[in-house]
Amino acid sequence: MEETRAVLEKLIKENSLDFEELLTLITGLDDGVRFRLRAAAGGLRDKIYGRRVFMRGLIEFSNYCRNDCFYCGIRRGNDVVRRYRMTSREILERCGTGYEMGFRSFVLQSGEDLWWNEERAAALVRAVRVRFPDCAITLSMGEKSRAYYQKLYDAGADRYLLRHETADPRHYGMLHPEGMTLENRVRCLMDLRDIGFQVGAGFMVGSPFQTAENLARDLMFLKNLRPHMVGIGPFIPHSRTPFGKMSAGSLEKSADMVAITRLLLPEALLPATTALGTLEARGREAALDAGANVVMPNLSPQENRKDYSLYDNKISTGEEAAESRERLEKRLKAIGYQPEYVRGDHVSYKQRAYSI
Ligand code: 5AD
Repeated sequence: MEETRAVLEKLIKENSLDFEELLTLITGLDDGVRFRLRAAAGGLRDKIYGRRVFMRGLIEFSNYCRNDCFYCGIRRGNDVVRRYRMTSREILERCGTGYEMGFRSFVLQSGEDLWWNEERAAALVRAVRVRFPDCAITLSMGEKSRAYYQKLYDAGADRYLLRHETADPRHYGMLHPEGMTLENRVRCLMDLRDIGFQVGAGFMVGSPFQTAENLARDLMFLKNLRPHMVGIGPFIPHSRTPFGKMSAGSLEKSADMVAITRLLLPEALLPATTALGTLEARGREAALDAGANVVMPNLSPQENRKDYSLYDNKISTGEEAAESRERLEKRLKAIGYQPEYVRGDHVSYKQRAYSI
C-alpha cells in the first residue's frame, strides 16, 4: 500500500516508471490510490489540452477481413456476419453528412480488406482530401507494406490507428492465429511514424490470458514508442469467436490504464472508447475523468452498424451515434467538458502542405 502510493507519486512527478514500478502500481491499486491516480491524470489532461474533448466521426467502411484474430467478431472465420463494403461514393457522402454536422476529423476504419489495395485506398484518401481540405483524415485498416502506407500519406492522410494489442510476443501468439506476429505490428507502427503519420497504438484490457506483467509491458512499450494516440478499451467477448465464453475486462481497470497512460504520455490523444461505453453507461465519462480527451461518434450508415460487431452488443445508436451528438454534447457539458469539432491534432503536430 505504502509502496504503491510512493510509486504513484513518482509517476505523477516524473511521468515515467520502470517495469517493476509499473507492476507495483498495477497490482497495488485500491480505491484510495485509484482516486489519486485518476485525479492526477485528469488534471494533467486539463493542463495540456484543457477540458476540451475532440470529436471524430467514425466511418466503418468495410467489415471484410483476411485475419482470424481470436477475439474479434469480424474475423474471417465468422461466417455468420453479413459482409459489406461501402463504395468511395458512399464514404464521401458520409463524410459530407459528418461535415454538415460539424465534424472536421474523420476516422475511416475497416477490417483487412484486400479489395482496398494501394491504388483504391489512395484514390479514396485523395478524394476525401480534395473535398474536405480542412479536415483531418485518420485511417485504421490494418497491417500493410511500407509502400502502401507511404501512398496513403502522400494522398493526404494524417493519422493511422493500429493497436499493438499486447506487447508480449507470447501473449500476442495466444490472441492471434499463426502467421500474425507482434514483430510485424511493430514494424508497421515504426514505418507509419517514419513516414510522418500521427500514430495510434493501444491494447485491450482484460483480454484472455492477460497478466499484470503483460499490462506493465504494454505501458512500457507505449512509453518507449511515444505514439500520438492510444486506444484502450476492455475486451468484450463476441459469441461467434473462440473467446466467446471468456469474461470481459473491467471498466475500473480500463480507466486505470487510461490514467496511467496519460501520466506516462502527457500529450497523447486518448479516446474514451466505444468498448468502454458498451460495457457500462458511465464508461465514457469514467475514461474522460481518467484523462481521456477524444470521443468518436459513429458516422457509418445505419444499415451497416450492426454488422461491424467486433464484440457483442457493441453500441452504435443512442449517444454513440453521430446523429445524436447533441445528446452526447449535453452529457459532456454536464460533467464539465467542452466538445470540440476541430481537427484535434497532437500538440507536436506541424501543419503539413498537402501535395495534391
Ligand atoms: N473486445 C474489445 N475490443 C476488441 N477489438 C477487437 N475485438 C474486440 C473485442 N472482442 C479491438 C481491437 C482492435 C480494435 C479495432 O478493436 O483492439 O484493434
